Amino acid sequence: MNVLILGSGGREHALAWKIAQSPVLKKLFIAPGNAGTLQHGYNVDLDTNNFGQIGQFAIDHDISLIVVGPEAPLVAGIHDYFLEKPELGNIAVIGPVRKAAMLEGSKDFAKEFMQRHNIPTGKHRTFTRNEINEAMSYLKEFQAPYVIKADGLAAGKGVLICETFEDAEQELNAMLIEEKFGDASAKVVIEEFLNGIELSVFVLTDGNSYILLPEAKDYKRIGEGDTGLNTGGMGSISPVPFADNDFMKKVEDRIIRPTINGLTKEGISYQGFIFFGLMNVEGNPYLIEYNARMGDPEAESVIPRIKSDILELFQGIANRNLKSSKIEIDPRYSTAIMLVSGGYPEKYEKGKSIKGLENIDESIIFHAGTAYDQEEKIVLTNGGRVLAITSLGKDMKDALEKSYQNADKIKFEKMYYRRDLGSDLEKFQA
Ligand code: AMP
Ligand code: GLY
Repeated sequence: MNVLILGSGGREHALAWKIAQSPVLKKLFIAPGNAGTLQHGYNVDLDTNNFGQIGQFAIDHDISLIVVGPEAPLVAGIHDYFLEKPELGNIAVIGPVRKAAMLEGSKDFAKEFMQRHNIPTGKHRTFTRNEINEAMSYLKEFQAPYVIKADGLAAGKGVLICETFEDAEQELNAMLIEEKFGDASAKVVIEEFLNGIELSVFVLTDGNSYILLPEAKDYKRIGEGDTGLNTGGMGSISPVPFADNDFMKKVEDRIIRPTINGLTKEGISYQGFIFFGLMNVEGNPYLIEYNARMGDPEAESVIPRIKSDILELFQGIANRNLKSSKIEIDPRYSTAIMLVSGGYPEKYEKGKSIKGLENIDESIIFHAGTAYDQEEKIVLTNGGRVLAITSLGKDMKDALEKSYQNADKIKFEKMYYRRDLGSDLEKFQA
């Protein structure tokens, strides 16, 4: 079959790398892709939010399945668009319909859903602009740090953790009254701060049954020791040593199954990845957020651990018979180190030539913000997060060593990466 992947990051390169290994694949297209996805298929210049253009491309190129990488087209209703158009109805879309993608697209919707289905999460309330006074007095029920979230999509910047009451008041005002995030902060969720250690858990679902994928730990802050600004993610590690059988059973019993059953009960059909952003609070999982897609950079460590044919799993979703699919997981550790442009997540430069890609051994390079210069035949930086270096190893140390050794062989101007990945997990290892 012919497959189209939408997106251009490390997650999409990891998906392309995996899909290219499937015996049922004929042609793979990635829109818009990057210099890495070029190794596995054809990059095509489509706008991921222009559904008419994508639909026409799918017809012209006999696409049977579309994998949607990022959240924006899902929240904007790309799956609904394909369902509504008779000529596109037989093309499978991996990624939920708009209503289901609201689990990511609206924090208020997600919180209400968790509450209806008794899914453990922090105490919270939602406020609109004309409830600013109520919002201020609700804040007083908590102690620092204060958690304030824009309801809608805000390019990963909509969650604020405020260290003082004054900061929290100021942020509430900025979001609700000054429309800091435009429409996305027309509603704001105030939430209890959960103190624990985070992890990301993923499932594939056809709406009835689900398959658990390997879990991962993401490193969000720019600085070593989890300091400095939040980023899209500076690397990931899978498996997570504290996510033992006992903990994962709690995750399935208290969070995953109630979510799938809740969707069914509410008549919301869901086909695709569900990403559960969890906090482990003294051995008990709490749900911080849902995402309607695979994580990035989690995909770069998780996908290489999937031994089964991913297109077969996607077909199971499309045909609503995922129940009969089995997944085989590589038991080894997988570590993805993100190499980023100096200055990221604030201002940074693009267009720097990347050297040393040919010297890598025993690691997989997943490209994120890269572009191929056809004339010069070189790979250039084209974003904040540039490359993920993924390695598999018999234990976490072994995998990390390979990733770091190879990271040292890559060079581009002002390249930066965190050297402390995994140090927070050592204490949990047997
Ligand atoms: P999000 O953009 O929703 O992934 O949130 C960004 C980050 O904020 C999360 O990954 C957590 O580190 C942090 N966070 C969100 N909600 C809470 C909470 N209730 N308690 C503690 N940290 C939180
Ligand atoms: N790594 C977090 C995310 O994909 O949102």
